[in-house]
Amino acid sequence: MSMFLIISTAWAVIALVLLVVAWRLARFGRTVPHRNIMILLTAGAWIFVLNYLFVQRYGGEAASFPRQYIPWVALHGSLGLVPLIGATCLVAGRLMAGRNRFSGHFNRHHKAYGRTFIVVWVFTHLGGLFNTIFLH
Ligand code: HEM
Repeated sequence: MSMFLIISTAWAVIALVLLVVAWRLARFGRTVPHRNIMILLTAGAWIFVLNYLFVQRYGGEAASFPRQYIPWVALHGSLGLVPLIGATCLVAGRLMAGRNRFSGHFNRHHKAYGRTFIVVWVFTHLGGLFNTIFLH
C-alpha cells in the first residue's frame, strides 16, 4: 500500500469518527467543541482534496482503477465535493454571522444543511474506504 493510501485511509477513519462526535455534540448543545471539530474537518478535507489533486497531477502514484469502476469513482469524487463546498459555506456563514445575506441564509438553515452534508460526507468516506479495501 502506498504512503498516500495509508494517509487517506487513516484520514477517512479519523474523519468518520469526528463527524459522528461533532454531530452528537451539536445535538447536545455543545456548540464550541462542535464548531472546533467542524472547522478542523473542513480544513482537513480541503488539504486532503488539494493533496489528492497534486498527487494525481505530479506524483508517481496516480490511482489506477479497473475501467468498469470509473463511473463509480467519478460519482464518488463528485459527491465528495457536496459536503466539502457545503461545509465550507456553513463554516463561512457562522464566521461571518450577521454580516451579509450569504451568512444569513446558511445560518438560518444550518441544521438542515448540516444534517444533509454530514450524511453525504459519511457516505463519501465509506466509499473511499471501499475503494481502498476492494479496488487496490
Ligand atoms: C463555524 C462552524 C460551526 C458552528 C459555529 C456551528 C454551530 C452550530 C450550532 C450553534 C448548532 C445548533 C443549532 C443551530 O444553531 O442551528 C449546530 C447544529 C448543527 N450543526 Fe453546526 N456549526 C458549525 C459548522 C457545522 C458544519 C460545517 C456542519 C456540517 C457540515 C455542521 C452540522 C451541524 C448539524 C448536523 C447540526 C444539527 C444537529 C442536530 O440537531 O441534528 N455544523 N451547529
